[in-house]
Amino acid sequence: MSDLSREAIARALDALGARGAGRRIEVFASIGSTNDEARRAAMEGAAAGSAFLAEEQTAGRGRGGHAWHSPLGENIYLSVIARPRVPAASLAPVTLAVGAALGELLGAVVGDRAKVEIKWPNDVLAEGRKIAGVLVEGQLRGSEVMSVIVGVGVNVRTVDFPEEIAARATSLARLGVAELDRSVIAARMIAAIDEAMDRFEEERLEPFLGTLARRDALRDRRVEAGGLIGVGAGIDEEGRLLVRLPSGAVKVVVSGEAIRLPG
Ligand code: BTN
Repeated sequence: MSDLSREAIARALDALGARGAGRRIEVFASIGSTNDEARRAAMEGAAAGSAFLAEEQTAGRGRGGHAWHSPLGENIYLSVIARPRVPAASLAPVTLAVGAALGELLGAVVGDRAKVEIKWPNDVLAEGRKIAGVLVEGQLRGSEVMSVIVGVGVNVRTVDFPEEIAARATSLARLGVAELDRSVIAARMIAAIDEAMDRFEEERLEPFLGTLARRDALRDRRVEAGGLIGVGAGIDEEGRLLVRLPSGAVKVVVSGEAIRLPG
Protein backbone atom coordinates (compact mmCIF):
# COMPACT_ATOMS: atom_id res chain seq x y z
CA MET A 1 0.00 0.00 0.00
CA SER A 2 1.27 3.47 -0.85
CA ASP A 3 2.28 5.91 1.86
CA LEU A 4 0.51 8.65 -0.12
CA SER A 5 -3.26 8.93 0.21
CA ARG A 6 -5.82 11.67 0.55
CA GLU A 7 -7.13 10.17 3.81
CA ALA A 8 -3.68 10.06 5.42
CA ILE A 9 -2.90 13.60 4.27
CA ALA A 10 -6.22 14.88 5.64
CA ARG A 11 -5.60 13.09 8.96
CA ALA A 12 -2.10 14.55 9.23
CA LEU A 13 -3.42 18.03 8.41
CA ASP A 14 -6.08 17.71 11.10
CA ALA A 15 -3.39 16.64 13.59
CA LEU A 16 -1.50 19.82 12.68
CA GLY A 17 -4.64 21.89 13.20
CA ALA A 18 -4.51 22.80 9.52
CA ARG A 19 -7.97 21.91 8.21
CA GLY A 20 -7.72 18.42 6.76
CA ALA A 21 -11.43 17.61 6.83
CA GLY A 22 -13.31 19.75 4.33
CA ARG A 23 -10.23 20.54 2.28
CA ARG A 24 -10.17 19.35 -1.33
CA ILE A 25 -7.23 16.95 -1.66
CA GLU A 26 -6.72 14.86 -4.77
CA VAL A 27 -4.04 12.21 -5.25
CA PHE A 28 -3.54 10.95 -8.80
CA ALA A 29 -1.82 7.70 -9.71
CA SER A 30 -0.31 9.34 -12.75
CA ILE A 31 -0.76 12.79 -14.25
CA GLY A 32 0.97 15.13 -16.69
CA SER A 33 1.63 17.93 -14.20
CA THR A 34 -0.13 18.61 -10.88
CA ASN A 35 0.23 22.33 -11.65
CA ASP A 36 -1.92 21.91 -14.77
CA GLU A 37 -4.56 19.97 -12.84
CA ALA A 38 -4.61 22.61 -10.09
CA ARG A 39 -4.92 25.40 -12.65
CA ARG A 40 -7.88 23.65 -14.30
CA ALA A 41 -9.57 23.28 -10.92
CA ALA A 42 -8.79 26.89 -9.96
CA MET A 43 -10.40 28.14 -13.17
CA GLU A 44 -13.50 26.12 -12.29
CA GLY A 45 -13.62 27.86 -8.91
CA ALA A 46 -11.80 25.46 -6.54
CA ALA A 47 -11.16 27.00 -3.14
CA ALA A 48 -7.86 28.31 -1.84
CA GLY A 49 -6.01 25.51 -0.07
CA SER A 50 -7.14 22.80 -2.50
CA ALA A 51 -4.22 20.41 -2.99
CA PHE A 52 -3.33 18.17 -5.93
CA LEU A 53 -0.71 15.44 -5.69
CA ALA A 54 0.46 12.57 -7.84
CA GLU A 55 2.41 9.35 -7.49
CA GLU A 56 4.12 10.22 -10.79
CA GLN A 57 4.14 13.04 -13.31
CA THR A 58 4.65 12.33 -16.98
CA ALA A 59 5.26 15.99 -17.85
CA GLY A 60 6.47 17.46 -14.56
CA ARG A 61 8.10 20.81 -15.15
CA GLY A 62 10.32 23.30 -13.41
CA ARG A 63 11.17 26.91 -14.09
CA GLY A 64 12.53 27.95 -17.44
CA GLY A 65 10.95 25.02 -19.27
CA HIS A 66 13.12 22.43 -17.48
CA ALA A 67 11.63 18.98 -16.88
CA TRP A 68 11.11 17.90 -13.26
CA HIS A 69 12.18 14.31 -12.61
CA SER A 70 8.95 12.70 -11.33
CA PRO A 71 9.34 8.91 -11.01
CA LEU A 72 6.52 6.71 -9.68
CA GLY A 73 5.98 6.29 -5.94
CA GLU A 74 9.18 7.97 -4.76
CA ASN A 75 8.70 11.68 -4.19
CA ILE A 76 6.21 14.45 -3.51
CA TYR A 77 4.69 16.33 -6.43
CA LEU A 78 2.25 18.84 -4.97
CA SER A 79 0.30 21.83 -6.23
CA VAL A 80 -1.79 24.03 -3.95
CA ILE A 81 -4.27 26.68 -5.06
CA ALA A 82 -3.92 30.07 -3.41
CA ARG A 83 -5.98 33.21 -3.91
CA PRO A 84 -3.91 35.98 -2.34
CA ARG A 85 -5.47 39.42 -2.44
CA VAL A 86 -2.42 41.24 -3.76
CA PRO A 87 -1.96 43.24 -6.93
CA ALA A 88 -0.42 41.25 -9.78
CA ALA A 89 2.60 43.58 -9.72
CA SER A 90 3.47 42.41 -6.16
CA LEU A 91 3.32 38.70 -6.90
CA ALA A 92 6.83 37.92 -8.16
CA PRO A 93 8.53 37.41 -4.74
CA VAL A 94 5.94 34.83 -3.68
CA THR A 95 8.23 32.08 -5.00
CA LEU A 96 10.84 33.12 -2.44
CA ALA A 97 8.26 33.25 0.35
CA VAL A 98 7.29 29.64 -0.42
CA GLY A 99 10.97 28.70 -0.83
CA ALA A 100 11.73 30.13 2.61
CA ALA A 101 8.84 28.20 4.20
CA LEU A 102 9.93 25.01 2.47
CA GLY A 103 13.56 25.59 3.43
CA GLU A 104 12.56 25.87 7.10
CA LEU A 105 10.42 22.75 6.89
CA LEU A 106 13.09 20.66 5.18
CA GLY A 107 15.73 22.09 7.52
CA ALA A 108 13.72 20.67 10.42
CA VAL A 109 13.26 17.30 8.68
CA VAL A 110 16.94 16.98 7.74
CA GLY A 111 18.21 18.22 11.12
CA ASP A 112 21.98 18.23 11.45
CA ARG A 113 22.49 15.74 8.61
CA ALA A 114 22.98 18.59 6.14
CA LYS A 115 22.73 22.34 5.76
CA VAL A 116 19.55 23.27 3.94
CA GLU A 117 19.88 26.42 1.84
CA ILE A 118 17.68 28.44 -0.49
CA LYS A 119 19.18 29.27 -3.86
CA TRP A 120 17.59 32.28 -5.49
CA PRO A 121 15.09 32.25 -7.04
CA ASN A 122 13.42 28.88 -6.44
CA ASP A 123 15.70 26.04 -5.36
CA VAL A 124 16.10 24.36 -2.01
CA LEU A 125 19.51 22.74 -1.60
CA ALA A 126 20.92 20.27 0.90
CA GLU A 127 24.66 19.71 0.96
CA GLY A 128 24.75 21.99 -2.08
CA ARG A 129 22.51 19.70 -4.13
CA LYS A 130 18.93 20.32 -5.14
CA ILE A 131 16.38 18.59 -2.91
CA ALA A 132 13.28 20.64 -3.79
CA GLY A 133 12.02 23.22 -6.25
CA VAL A 134 9.15 25.69 -6.37
CA LEU A 135 7.16 26.62 -9.46
CA VAL A 136 4.56 29.34 -8.90
CA GLU A 137 2.19 30.11 -11.76
CA GLY A 138 -0.36 32.92 -11.52
CA GLN A 139 -3.64 33.37 -13.33
CA LEU A 140 -4.09 37.10 -13.77
CA ARG A 141 -6.88 39.31 -15.10
CA GLY A 142 -5.30 42.67 -15.81
CA SER A 143 -3.78 43.79 -12.53
CA GLU A 144 -5.90 41.32 -10.53
CA VAL A 145 -4.65 37.95 -9.28
CA MET A 146 -7.40 35.39 -9.88
CA SER A 147 -5.45 32.45 -8.47
CA VAL A 148 -1.94 31.26 -7.90
CA ILE A 149 -0.75 27.70 -8.28
CA VAL A 150 2.05 26.87 -5.87
CA GLY A 151 3.82 23.82 -7.25
CA VAL A 152 6.45 22.09 -5.15
CA GLY A 153 8.52 19.01 -5.84
CA VAL A 154 10.51 17.37 -3.05
CA ASN A 155 12.91 14.49 -3.62
CA VAL A 156 11.99 12.04 -0.89
CA ARG A 157 13.08 8.52 -1.84
CA THR A 158 14.91 8.75 -5.15
CA VAL A 159 18.43 7.43 -4.67
CA ASP A 160 19.51 6.94 -8.29
CA PHE A 161 18.93 10.08 -10.31
CA PRO A 162 19.28 10.23 -14.12
CA GLU A 163 22.84 10.86 -15.19
CA GLU A 164 22.22 14.44 -16.33
CA ILE A 165 21.15 15.58 -12.82
CA ALA A 166 22.93 12.97 -10.66
CA ALA A 167 25.73 15.32 -9.60
CA ARG A 168 23.32 18.13 -8.68
CA ALA A 169 20.41 16.32 -6.98
CA THR A 170 19.79 14.75 -3.62
CA SER A 171 16.86 13.41 -1.59
CA LEU A 172 15.79 12.90 2.01
CA ALA A 173 16.67 9.21 1.65
CA ARG A 174 20.15 10.02 0.35
CA LEU A 175 20.70 12.26 3.36
CA GLY A 176 19.81 9.40 5.69
CA VAL A 177 16.35 10.57 6.85
CA ALA A 178 14.53 7.43 8.01
CA GLU A 179 11.01 8.84 8.48
CA LEU A 180 9.81 9.12 4.88
CA ASP A 181 6.02 8.98 5.12
CA ARG A 182 5.04 11.12 2.14
CA SER A 183 1.53 11.85 3.44
CA VAL A 184 2.92 13.30 6.66
CA ILE A 185 5.55 15.36 4.85
CA ALA A 186 3.01 16.52 2.23
CA ALA A 187 0.60 17.60 4.99
CA ARG A 188 3.36 19.65 6.61
CA MET A 189 4.09 21.20 3.21
CA ILE A 190 0.44 22.10 2.60
CA ALA A 191 0.17 23.69 6.06
CA ALA A 192 3.43 25.60 5.46
CA ILE A 193 2.26 26.83 2.05
CA ASP A 194 -1.10 28.00 3.49
CA GLU A 195 0.69 29.91 6.22
CA ALA A 196 3.29 31.38 3.86
CA MET A 197 0.57 32.61 1.50
CA ASP A 198 -1.36 34.25 4.37
CA ARG A 199 1.76 36.00 5.60
CA PHE A 200 2.71 37.05 2.08
CA GLU A 201 -0.76 38.52 1.55
CA GLU A 202 -0.42 40.60 4.73
CA GLU A 203 3.25 41.56 4.74
CA ARG A 204 4.80 40.52 1.39
CA LEU A 205 8.36 39.25 1.71
CA GLU A 206 9.22 40.99 4.99
CA PRO A 207 8.55 38.03 7.37
CA PHE A 208 10.71 35.76 5.21
CA LEU A 209 13.79 37.95 4.87
CA GLY A 210 15.46 36.55 8.01
CA THR A 211 15.18 32.97 6.75
CA LEU A 212 16.31 33.99 3.27
CA ALA A 213 19.40 35.66 4.72
CA ARG A 214 20.23 32.73 7.02
CA ARG A 215 19.78 30.12 4.31
CA ASP A 216 21.09 32.07 1.32
CA ALA A 217 23.11 29.61 -0.82
CA LEU A 218 24.61 32.45 -2.86
CA ARG A 219 25.70 34.77 -0.07
CA ASP A 220 29.41 35.53 -0.41
CA ARG A 221 29.70 32.96 -3.18
CA ARG A 222 30.85 33.66 -6.74
CA VAL A 223 27.77 33.84 -8.89
CA GLU A 224 26.64 34.48 -12.44
CA ALA A 225 23.18 35.98 -12.81
CA GLY A 226 21.45 38.42 -15.11
CA GLY A 227 24.53 38.67 -17.31
CA LEU A 228 26.66 39.70 -14.31
CA ILE A 229 29.53 37.89 -12.62
CA GLY A 230 30.23 38.83 -9.03
CA VAL A 231 29.59 37.73 -5.45
CA GLY A 232 26.15 37.13 -3.93
CA ALA A 233 25.31 40.01 -1.59
CA GLY A 234 21.87 38.94 -0.35
CA ILE A 235 18.23 39.23 -1.38
CA ASP A 236 16.38 42.53 -1.01
CA GLU A 237 12.85 43.15 0.29
CA GLU A 238 11.45 42.87 -3.23
CA GLY A 239 13.06 39.47 -3.74
CA ARG A 240 15.77 40.68 -6.06
CA LEU A 241 19.23 39.12 -5.99
CA LEU A 242 22.05 41.49 -5.06
CA VAL A 243 25.36 40.93 -6.81
CA ARG A 244 28.56 42.72 -5.80
CA LEU A 245 30.77 43.36 -8.81
CA PRO A 246 34.59 43.35 -8.67
CA SER A 247 34.37 47.17 -8.72
CA GLY A 248 32.49 47.07 -5.40
CA ALA A 249 29.23 48.27 -6.97
CA VAL A 250 26.13 46.28 -5.99
CA LYS A 251 23.64 45.52 -8.78
CA VAL A 252 20.15 44.06 -8.54
CA VAL A 253 19.00 41.09 -10.62
CA VAL A 254 15.24 40.97 -10.98
CA SER A 255 14.65 37.58 -12.55
CA GLY A 256 16.27 34.63 -14.29
CA GLU A 257 18.60 31.91 -13.12
CA ALA A 258 21.67 32.15 -10.92
CA ILE A 259 24.67 29.90 -11.32
CA ARG A 260 27.01 29.29 -8.43
CA LEU A 261 30.55 29.45 -9.79
CA PRO A 262 33.49 27.54 -8.34
CA GLY A 263 35.79 29.42 -6.02
C1 BTN B 1 12.07 24.07 -10.28
O1 BTN B 1 12.95 23.72 -9.49
O2 BTN B 1 12.37 24.56 -11.38
C2 BTN B 1 10.65 23.91 -9.88
C3 BTN B 1 10.20 22.48 -9.79
C4 BTN B 1 8.75 22.33 -9.44
C5 BTN B 1 8.27 20.90 -9.56
C6 BTN B 1 6.87 20.76 -9.06
S1 BTN B 1 6.38 19.05 -8.90
C7 BTN B 1 4.73 19.54 -8.63
C8 BTN B 1 4.44 20.68 -9.60
N1 BTN B 1 4.06 20.14 -10.90
C9 BTN B 1 4.95 20.44 -11.82
O3 BTN B 1 4.87 20.11 -13.03
N2 BTN B 1 5.95 21.16 -11.32
C10 BTN B 1 5.76 21.39 -9.90
